[in-house]
Amino acid sequence: MPQIVHVPDQQLWILSGPAASYVLHLDPEGLLHGLHWGPRLDPEQAASLLDLPAPIHRGHQVAADGRLDLAAAGGARFGHAGIQVRFADGTRDLELELTGHRIESAAGSVELVLDFADRHYPLSVETRYLLRPGSDVIERRVRLRHTGAAGTEPVSVLRADSATWVLPPLDGYRLSQVHGQWAAESQLTRTELAYGETVLTSRRGVSGHQSQPWAMLDDGTATETEGAVYGCALAWSGSWQLTLQRLAGDEVLMSAGAQHTPTVHLLAPGEELETPASLGLYSEGGFGAASRAWHRHIRSQVLPHPDELRPVLYNSWEATFFDIGLENQKALADRAAAMGVELFVMDDGWFGSRTHDAAGLGDWTPNPDRFPDGLAPLIDHVHGLGMEFGLWVEPEMTNPDSDLYRAHPDWVLHQPHRHRTEMRNQLVLNLARPEVADWLHATIDGLLRDNAIDFLKWDMNRPFTEAGPVGEGGDDRLWADYTRNLYAVLDRLRADHPAVRIEDCASGGGRIDLGLLARTDQVWTSDNTDPADRLHIQYGFSQLYPAQVMGAWVTDSPNPFTRRSTPLDFRFHSAMAGALGIGGDLSEWTKEELARAAELVAAYKTVRPLVQQGLQYRLRGPEQELSAVQFVAEDGTGTAVLAYRRSRSMGEGAPVLRLRGLRPEARYREAASGRLHHGAVLLARGLPLELPEGDWASALVHLTVV
Ligand code: DGJ
Repeated sequence: MPQIVHVPDQQLWILSGPAASYVLHLDPEGLLHGLHWGPRLDPEQAASLLDLPAPIHRGHQVAADGRLDLAAAGGARFGHAGIQVRFADGTRDLELELTGHRIESAAGSVELVLDFADRHYPLSVETRYLLRPGSDVIERRVRLRHTGAAGTEPVSVLRADSATWVLPPLDGYRLSQVHGQWAAESQLTRTELAYGETVLTSRRGVSGHQSQPWAMLDDGTATETEGAVYGCALAWSGSWQLTLQRLAGDEVLMSAGAQHTPTVHLLAPGEELETPASLGLYSEGGFGAASRAWHRHIRSQVLPHPDELRPVLYNSWEATFFDIGLENQKALADRAAAMGVELFVMDDGWFGSRTHDAAGLGDWTPNPDRFPDGLAPLIDHVHGLGMEFGLWVEPEMTNPDSDLYRAHPDWVLHQPHRHRTEMRNQLVLNLARPEVADWLHATIDGLLRDNAIDFLKWDMNRPFTEAGPVGEGGDDRLWADYTRNLYAVLDRLRADHPAVRIEDCASGGGRIDLGLLARTDQVWTSDNTDPADRLHIQYGFSQLYPAQVMGAWVTDSPNPFTRRSTPLDFRFHSAMAGALGIGGDLSEWTKEELARAAELVAAYKTVRPLVQQGLQYRLRGPEQELSAVQFVAEDGTGTAVLAYRRSRSMGEGAPVLRLRGLRPEARYREAASGRLHHGAVLLARGLPLELPEGDWASALVHLTVV
């Protein structure tokens, strides 16, 4: 059970999960320090931290600069301030005092609440630290409140970070992050943290392809299997900013918040601003253990349905693009069902005048030429084949050439006297407006009520531009209101249609974050379905997110995007490391390919509980000629190994792959060959791999304890 202890004499709060502690200290001047983040300490040990030499004070700034957990702007503090406001008279410095604190427990969780208020101005700041059972993740939020009487001038909130995470002194600081772009998401990089401020951000209104709202820091020596790793993530799907600061004395912090800079939120008297959550995790055992701890937390605390196995899906996008019709979808469904697919998803092009990407977005009724009797004939056909039915929607958008836009040109994001920038011929609906959010909810709700839809692929294919018109106060709350209203619509749809599952998509992986993962069931990882590129994308994705939510399709060869040719087995084995889908043009697949695909789908189903619910070990990274990932049952009774060899340079011999997470005393049987292996030998020396000849060779090995 997590524990929070208050030591009043020294003004300490010690927050402890199973293996880690975060210690807060209120100094005599009333500043809240992040005193410790690392291995678990008991209260006596934590109190002794105060006996350590105080940081040297070199003048020109307070010694606490860069060490404050509640980093409010003001005084001789010049580093990043997580809380920045401007009062009506222009004053920007905050002088916060602790006004109360409490520890609340519920259902195995425990939460610390610290209340601060400005000494003079009408602003209170509440900071919360939530620990959930069985996890070292700390979930933090901040709530700002204008405490003035009605009629008092508003307070401008310039920055409200959800959390500022203070790192302890380390021998070095190395930043792990993912960067990317469309069709090249989740590219992992590790670089020394520069002195000054490193800002990861999205100004796009969505969390974005270019970066994801998380970061990890280590001392520069951590490996996949060893070393301490500090991570933080922001549960938010709109614009965001993560500031990593390294001051001259190696005071290092990570501060995570919604909104990019500069934006202003005007707080009226009595009004509150509550930030989304930032989650922080200290772990030992290298990057692999850090990822497994994040996966465990996301599966147990974030995902709505972690215990459900994600179905093998078929998606028609790469097969038919916009040339959708009842007959070609039925034909694809027939072939998919014969292959063992469990969910058939019809993609873009089924509605309104949407026969290309320049028309129809917003008109969510079946195209009468393509589906004269509505969707029922196709849905019945799919259900009759024993599959579930899924439908693509992109409800946050409209094409100017649509009935919706013609009726409501003012419903899109726009600013007076400015052009309306189109991207992919479309404009963003202003979900911050309640009537637009209501329309969106009613439209999708109606679709779900009128049709036996089991699954939605919820797409979002462009960022915000000309974000306006702004509300009465003239502030920038539109950005956050959009995301909050999107969450509210999704929450309502899920509550009213509890059997429907949702895939989060934004031109592939353009909006992957813990905010949407709490409201969806899987993500469309990337529009790049090349299986070799995918190994890199999946490697970056797996740093934070579990395989269970990582949609991965097998498509045609040569790949339509990269033109690279790869064997069918390689394509399958690459996609089997996530939630398997098929996205090729099955009408073009040979009998042999269809038959082999059916065998591979069946093989995936036997290892699916391991992949989707087991522990993931990245055995060898995708930059190596032989790369591999292993999934192990929590109790070590079974494992699935997926290995990939680009080519056999220099006539390399048969590889032997050291496995992890197994029981040394147990013996394991290989499903395909019946061969027996000793757990101890698999761990100490490895698994001999039999890979096919030629480039892009791959294998799936399934071992079960005997
Ligand atoms: C972008 C998605 O990432 C694709 O998978 C597909 O659904 C298209 N949109 C359809 O327009």
